Amino acid sequence: MNSGKTSAPINPRTRHGFQGRTCSIVGTGSYVPEKILTNSDLERLVDTSNDWITTRTGIRERRIAEPGQFTSDLGAKAAIKAMEKAGVTSEQVDLIILATITPDMPFPATACLVQQKIGARRAAAFDLEAACSGFIYGLEIGHQFIMSHTYETVLVIGAEKLTSIVNWKDRNTCVLFGDGAGAVVLQHRHGANGILTTCMGADGGKADLLSMPGGGSRHPATPESVAADLHYLRMDGKETFKNAVNAMCLAAKECLYRCHLDVSQIKCIIPHQANHRIVEAVRERLEAKPEQVFINLDRYGNTSAASVAIALNEAAEAGRLQPGDLVLLVVFGAGLTWGAALIQW
Ligand code: UT7
Repeated sequence: MNSGKTSAPINPRTRHGFQGRTCSIVGTGSYVPEKILTNSDLERLVDTSNDWITTRTGIRERRIAEPGQFTSDLGAKAAIKAMEKAGVTSEQVDLIILATITPDMPFPATACLVQQKIGARRAAAFDLEAACSGFIYGLEIGHQFIMSHTYETVLVIGAEKLTSIVNWKDRNTCVLFGDGAGAVVLQHRHGANGILTTCMGADGGKADLLSMPGGGSRHPATPESVAADLHYLRMDGKETFKNAVNAMCLAAKECLYRCHLDVSQIKCIIPHQANHRIVEAVRERLEAKPEQVFINLDRYGNTSAASVAIALNEAAEAGRLQPGDLVLLVVFGAGLTWGAALIQW
């Protein structure tokens, strides 16, 4: 597995000052539904135990959206908070990129529904599907639009209602996932810090490891496809685990290499929040210290595209990110897909 195209090293200072333009995260926001589903609640649904879930995954509880609450509602709430923090009005937003594997419906794009909900009338809007890596893919696309002077204000959102595709009879998967959304506002601001580099990768040869087979052109919805549980998420957990550790390490190292940085210089590593054993294996291989790593998966489980977006906002709100700090986001998901982003806060 490679981590995507290896490019020549980038000096963060020269990249930073590239044509006098920087792409900064000028506001973060997140939203999780109020309803909490604990491991003890799950003990009543499937043959599992709090002890198994906690020791094998680190997850203690997850949030569940209400039946009438959709991915666009979660995404809009996170986006509004990010815009408030950025001091940006919805009229200023030029582009909305929404990463999700649980859109409100196959089309139109959930990003368009968010555009309407937040009143961003001027904005172009599209969905991006890179599963749990979607937020980093979106960050890179937004970054490119800012750096190329195409747009001044880009909203990148990761939002999921994963409980709508979870098979509540499958203990291998139903204990892992939760609902939520995170968002950032990207802008160039003179003299501000910003995104130093990003990398992305994919391996479609392993698409079957983690998928929802039904609902697309291969298996459109029929009574048979529903009876065969094709509209639920399914995963080969063990293989996914191994691939996640390898890919996340490679992506993180690629970003560090390109910026001539050592892991010891990173203030905060924010990994995809799937399993504490994956996070720990990645941390050990990168030779990072436990205090460098931000974890909130115990409270939310795996929220796919929303995962690092929620964690980034919570790390910022907790005062873990100070101006000038180096922050490394690293993700992995279905596709397979993976990626990382190195940011100077
Ligand atoms: O977001 C995209 C990335 N996603 C991931 O990275 C997830 C990666 N995978 C994982 O996190 C882990 O593989 C899991 C948490 C899904 C599973 O952990 P594991 O240590 O790989 O367990 P396993 O699948 O090998 O299962 C071990 C045992 C099995 O029983 P037997 O066959 O040994 O008797 C399972 O049936 O644990 C059993 N098991 C459970 N037991 C109680 C599986 N799920 C449960 C459960 N409660 N919920």
